[in-house]
Amino acid sequence: MTVSAVIYGVGAMGGEVASLLIERGVPVVGAIARSPQKVGRDLGDVIGLGRDTGVIVSDDADTVLQESGADIAILTTNSYLADHAPFIERCVRAGLNVITIAEEALHPWRTSPGEAARLDALAREHGVSIYGGGHEDAFWIGLGAQLAGAAHRVDSIRWESTWNPEAAGPELMSSLGIGDPASGESVSVVWRENDPRPPFGLPALDALAEHLGLPDAPRTVTTEQIAAAQPLRSSALGREIAVGEVVGVRDIIRRDPLTEDEPLLEFTVTGRLNPDQHSSGETWEIEGIPSMRMQTSFSKGHFQVTAQIANRLEDVVAARPGWVRHSRMPAIGYPSA
Ligand SMILES: NC(=O)c1ccc[n+]([C@@H]2O[C@H](COP(=O)([O-])OP(=O)(O)OC[C@H]3O[C@@H](n4cnc5c(N)ncnc54)[C@H](OP(=O)(O)O)[C@@H]3O)[C@@H](O)[C@H]2O)c1
Repeated sequence: MTVSAVIYGVGAMGGEVASLLIERGVPVVGAIARSPQKVGRDLGDVIGLGRDTGVIVSDDADTVLQESGADIAILTTNSYLADHAPFIERCVRAGLNVITIAEEALHPWRTSPGEAARLDALAREHGVSIYGGGHEDAFWIGLGAQLAGAAHRVDSIRWESTWNPEAAGPELMSSLGIGDPASGESVSVVWRENDPRPPFGLPALDALAEHLGLPDAPRTVTTEQIAAAQPLRSSALGREIAVGEVVGVRDIIRRDPLTEDEPLLEFTVTGRLNPDQHSSGETWEIEGIPSMRMQTSFSKGHFQVTAQIANRLEDVVAARPGWVRHSRMPAIGYPSA
């Protein structure tokens, strides 16, 4: 199947996804941006491809979506549904499938249930699919689900991710509060249903719980800001972060068992700016029969994000209409042909 795509949001991630698709020969037939510095230029020029693509970056989203003839829109604009639900809706109404890297979109059913249900129904009506993908697809959910699938009994799953937002764009920096004055507090809350701006790891924990067939249960989120102990130059922010300003955030997200048969789930996510080091990766630990441990690490770059978008396009287009849950998708695969 050849799938053609529109890039919606030509920022740090959108630009990298576009380059990767073009390199693979996947038709990129439209590009939507907002800033006057990008609109009206050739996509190849905007993303530094070194050649023109014939696609002119536009801020007229409806026209691009309706006239491009694309199968799927790739949304790389925001983290939360509250901000980008209108973009999803616009794509669906134009008859395009949607894959979005918004962190909440992995599993919005408990954080924005009303909006998720509305968009799910709209997608069914228009015969298209919506899916939240990106780094989390394999590394925060899929690998853990597979590992648990190899166990006779699971007592607990503890997994940890550290990642470096340095090469990301301003949207991600603001989602994490990087550069804001640090409060120095560690805040622990039971996450309320319907609170629409969850920590990045919460939808992933909810998605893994669904894989394991666990019912909805309270999740406790403990958030610590990491303050700069010395000045740190951030190219992503375009300025120096002063001592006492936020350079990172650590969230510990925990779902305690409701019965003695259920496993404990605990996910620790640390996003910390680190301009000199690439220190991203995950550790998964399962206690049970047998107990297991798995570690992932990456060479520099965002290919583990962008390749997972490219490798999911056909799955999303082929999926049943509606908002597709991670547990209903096949494990992500590498399309070698
Ligand atoms: N799931 C994952 O694996 C993953 C990985 C990385 C990032 N993310 C998330 O993806 C989002 C984007 O990250 P990023 O690093 O690429 O940020 P970014 O560089 O700030 O890119 C966001 C882009 O969205 C565009 N945009 C915003 N509103 C728009 C609108 N109304 N119309 C058209 N374009 C619009 C902006 O356009 P202009 O430049 O024209 O203003 C900007 O280029 C963030 O929320 C981040 O948290 C997820």
